[in-house]
Amino acid sequence: MTETMDAFHNGSSPVHVPRHVAIIMDGNGRWARERGLPRAVGHRQGTENLREILRAAVETGIEVLTLFAFSTENWKRPRAEIRVLMNTLELVIDRELRELDEQGVQIRHIGELEGIPPKLQRKIREAVALTRHNRTLILNVALNYGGRDEIVRAVRRIVAEGIAPEAIDEQLIERYLYTGSLPDPDLIIRTSGERRLSNFLVWQGSYAEYHFTSVYWPDFGREHLRDALAEYSRRTRRFGQTDEQLRPRLSTPHV
Ligand code: IPE
Ligand code: IPE
Ligand code: MG
Repeated sequence: MTETMDAFHNGSSPVHVPRHVAIIMDGNGRWARERGLPRAVGHRQGTENLREILRAAVETGIEVLTLFAFSTENWKRPRAEIRVLMNTLELVIDRELRELDEQGVQIRHIGELEGIPPKLQRKIREAVALTRHNRTLILNVALNYGGRDEIVRAVRRIVAEGIAPEAIDEQLIERYLYTGSLPDPDLIIRTSGERRLSNFLVWQGSYAEYHFTSVYWPDFGREHLRDALAEYSRRTRRFGQTDEQLRPRLSTPHV
């Protein structure tokens, strides 16, 4: 956690900026339904705010932004909707890649590439290769991602490599997850009023702070991100310890 004055902050005290923010971008379908529009329009509209959110993340000094774009469970949706989602993701890469590269954004993918339609797979590989030396912000796209699937795949590789049981600890397991050397998410935001993880970052999110907002993803803008960050900076993260241990000046008599 870094202490900086973020771009949104208009008070005088420093704000705790999370290193890693992850967003479950939910509510595209309901956004469309409430307007009498097809779900596809909601998915398309749910890409219009990406540029603004990315810029705000860069300005704030966030190091890693993970976006949940498509889960391993989303394959259960109607084929036509899956096609729309995949086409929309291709479109976003075509439309945004140049600017993201110019901003110094490093694009990464978490999830299983195999299983994604070949054309989109190719575009993801190209985007990752093109931006791999960029250092401003890591944009981690979770696509065909499932937290349980990730753990299953990690266990399989650990077993296949013949790693001794005594050598297995939390650090080793982390190295086998898609997120590898990335810090755990400090803040996980979910839009659309749902309050669940839906198989997102189940290992990595074990000590994250959660921010739920009723705003549908297509309406989520810079001001909503600012609210989430402001709320985050007011929270106390104890990681199992007591307040007194963390701030010894709070002299509550102990036990
Ligand atoms: C998020 O919006 C996009 C994906 C899950 C791929 P939804 O499509 O889940 O929208 P709702 O939840 O039906 O409103
Ligand atoms: C989670 O949203 C996945 C993404 C945002 C990509 P869903 O809309 O698929 O989650 P559930 O099915 O409501 O839990
Ligand atoms: Mg949903």
